[in-house]
This record gives sequence, structure tokens and C-alpha cells, in this order.
Amino acid sequence: MGAALATRPLHPLLGVEIVGVDVGHVDAEDHLIPQGDRRNLFNAGNQMWHTDSSFKRVPALASLLSGREVPPEGGETEFASMRVAYERLPDATRRLLEGKVAIHSFEYSRGLVGEGLLPPEDAAQVPPVPQALVRANPANGRKAFFVASHACEIVGMPTDEARALIRDLLRRATAAELVYTHRWRPGDLVMWDNRCVLHRGRPWNESRYRRVMHRTTVAGDGPTAGEVAGIMVAAARDSDVAWCRAQLEAM
Ligand SMILES: [Fe+2]
Repeated sequence: MGAALATRPLHPLLGVEIVGVDVGHVDAEDHLIPQGDRRNLFNAGNQMWHTDSSFKRVPALASLLSGREVPPEGGETEFASMRVAYERLPDATRRLLEGKVAIHSFEYSRGLVGEGLLPPEDAAQVPPVPQALVRANPANGRKAFFVASHACEIVGMPTDEARALIRDLLRRATAAELVYTHRWRPGDLVMWDNRCVLHRGRPWNESRYRRVMHRTTVAGDGPTAGEVAGIMVAAARDSDVAWCRAQLEAM
């Protein structure tokens, strides 16, 4: 989950929280983390399409990513709009999604990257949470579906069907012609709305180049869905793992 640098309220009137996270591949002693290190494997999960903190009860509102040291090649960040993809869905699919609740689990998504990547004591701190499958921007009413690598169940739907639907939505949102790729230059700052934007990091030669990024997250203002009793997350199937690995290998 990265090393939190600071957590403090931005302003009491705004009611938002700023969390600074170092998402680089340089350790606390300023050394490159060697390729294959567990810490890098853990970060590889960010190369799956996601929206920040959707595995938390209150997901992030916005994120700001600042490139401090960037590799000359690779290490891009890609963005895709779940709002555009939602607007392009067939009416019947939009009706199917309306009012549904998905379950997001950090333990599930990191388990796809590598078995046992998340120790049980850490997993216990981030239990699976419910999130609305469709969210409307309160300012303009425009809707987007809300899925991510952490989404693994839909309440009231068989697991296989739910995961196929989640993958289909992700595929639609991240079709090549809809993706913006940000190629970093030192000093760049990019910000995005996690309520409707997916993103993922791209790989680079970690043993050759340093990459130091600082992320600031603006916390959301409330849960997106009501409580769900007895949340169960079925173990990842071979097809789930294969889908994840295909994303990590398509680099
Ligand atoms: Fe992220």
C-alpha cells in the first residue's frame, strides 16, 4: 500500500484529507529497490487498471501524481474514462448495473499478482468493502460505472457471472482508442477524479532507471453504498489469475 508520508486534514471547512504516498522504486536509504524484490512485486499491482482506494469503505475522490525522477523510457501512466464507457453501454446493460453493489478487495487483487503477497495481518486491516456499481457526479448528475482490479463480486450475482461482467466493463473502458497515455517529464503534475477515471502504471527498466513519484490523495466524503452483511469473496479462479497476468505481461 506504500509508505504514507503524511495524513492531515487540508482544511476543516473542506472536510477532505490529504494523504501523501511515495510510489517510487527507491528505498528509504535512496537506493534502487532490486528487480524481483517483494516490494516491487507488490507495486506491480498498480499496473492493473484501478481507481485509487476503491478497496476502502470511502474511496478516494481525487489523486495528484507528481513526477520527481522519471525514467527516459517506460513508466508511463495510462488513464481511461468509466464515464465515457458508461455512456456507450447498451441501455439494457445500463439498466442491469443500476442499483447494484460490487465488492472490492485489496487482498483479492494483490492475490492475483502473487500468492501470499499480503500477509494475513495486513489483509485483516483492509476487509472487502461494498461500492456502488454506478456513481453519479453530484455536481452534474453524469453517471459512470465504478469498477477496478479490486472489484471481485457483485451482490446477488454468481461469482463467475460477476467477474465476467466486471472484466467486460474494464475492457470497454480501456479500449486502446479511449486511453490517454501520460509520458512523464520531471516536474509534471497530473490530477484525476477517481470517481470516474481508471488508471494504471506501466513498467520500466527498474534495475537501470530511478523513478520517484509522489502521490497525494484527496479522500472522498462518504461511502458509495450501504452496509452489506456477511460479505464473502470467492477465491480467485485460474481464469482470474490468467486475466491479471495477461495485463502484467502485456508490457
Ligand atoms: Fe493508483
